[in-house]
Amino acid sequence: MAARSHAAMATVVLLGTAGCSGVQSALAPGGRQAADIAGLYWWMAIGSLIVWLGVVAVAVWCVRWSSGVPDRRRDRALIIGGGTIIPLIVLTVLLTYGLIAIPPLVARAPAGSLSIAVTGERWWWRVRYEPPGGAAVPVANELYLPVNELVQFRLNSHDVIHSFWMPSLGPKMDMIPGRITWLALEPTQIGWFRGTCAEFCGGSHALMGFDVRVTGRPAFEKWLAHQAAPAAVPPDAIARHGYDLFFAAGCSACHTIRGTPAAGVIGPDLTHVGSRRTLAASVLPNDVDAFRRWMAHPGHIKPRARMPRFGMLADADLKALATFLEGLE
Ligand code: CUA
Repeated sequence: MAARSHAAMATVVLLGTAGCSGVQSALAPGGRQAADIAGLYWWMAIGSLIVWLGVVAVAVWCVRWSSGVPDRRRDRALIIGGGTIIPLIVLTVLLTYGLIAIPPLVARAPAGSLSIAVTGERWWWRVRYEPPGGAAVPVANELYLPVNELVQFRLNSHDVIHSFWMPSLGPKMDMIPGRITWLALEPTQIGWFRGTCAEFCGGSHALMGFDVRVTGRPAFEKWLAHQAAPAAVPPDAIARHGYDLFFAAGCSACHTIRGTPAAGVIGPDLTHVGSRRTLAASVLPNDVDAFRRWMAHPGHIKPRARMPRFGMLADADLKALATFLEGLE
C-alpha cells in the first residue's frame, strides 16, 4: 500500500514538474522579464509555504500540547499577533515586492528599438518586422529575436481577443480588436522557444502557437534580410506546375508571395513559408506531406479554420502545390 501511494506521489510530482522545463515554461526563463516573473513566483510560493507551515504548527500545537484551559491573555495575543500583525507584515512585504516588480514588466522599449507588430487572427499570427530606419518585413507564425536586446511588440487583433504569450521570455499581453497593446521583452538565452495564445478565442484556440528563435545579432540580420527578399520560385517542373496551380486554384486571392502576382492579404504571407520550422501556426512539421494534408483538409487539422479545403484537387496536383510551397525557402 505504502509503495503504491509513493508511486502515485512520484507520478504527481513528475507530472507537475514536466511543465517546468523546455521551450514553453514560465519557470525556465530565457529572458529578463521572464526571470523577474519566475523570481516573483518563487517569492510568493516560498512566502505561502512559510505561512502554511506556521498555521499547521499552531494547529498541531493546539491539538497535541495545548492544555485546553482558556487563557485570555494568551488567546488575545494569538489572535492579534497571528490574525492581524503577522498577515499585515507578510502582505505588506509581498505587496511592496510586487509593486516594485511590475512597472519594468510593462515599460516601453526606448525609441530606436526593433519594433515588431503582431496581429492575432483566427488562428494564426500576422507579424510585421519594423526595423528602425528600414523597410517593414511581413512574416507569419514565426519570430526571430536578437539576444540581449529590448524588442518592442505592438499588438492588436483583427477579430476576437487573443493573448500573446511566450512563457519562457516574458509576461502575456492581450490582443484586443480596435486597440493597441504594448509589450517589451529582452531575451537573454539563445535557442528555440515557443509561444501560444493564452486567451480562449474559439474552435482552434489550442492550435494557435508560434515558434521563436533567439539568435545573435548577425544571424538575426541575415534571417531578416532573407525574409525581406522576394520569393525564389523553385525551378523544377513539379514546383512550376504547383506555381501555376497556386493561381489557377485561387490561393493567390488570400495569400501574398512577394515577387509574384500573388497579393492576397486574408491569410499568412507565404513568401518564405518553406523556411519556417512548422506549418499552420506550430501545428504541423514543415514538409511536403504536411502541406498536402493541410491543403486537402484544413478543417480536420484545425477545426473551424478559415482556410478553404482543396481536397477536390487531384493528389498529383496537391503534391505539386505542396512541392512549390515547401520550396519557398
Ligand atoms: Cu487566439 Cu486563443
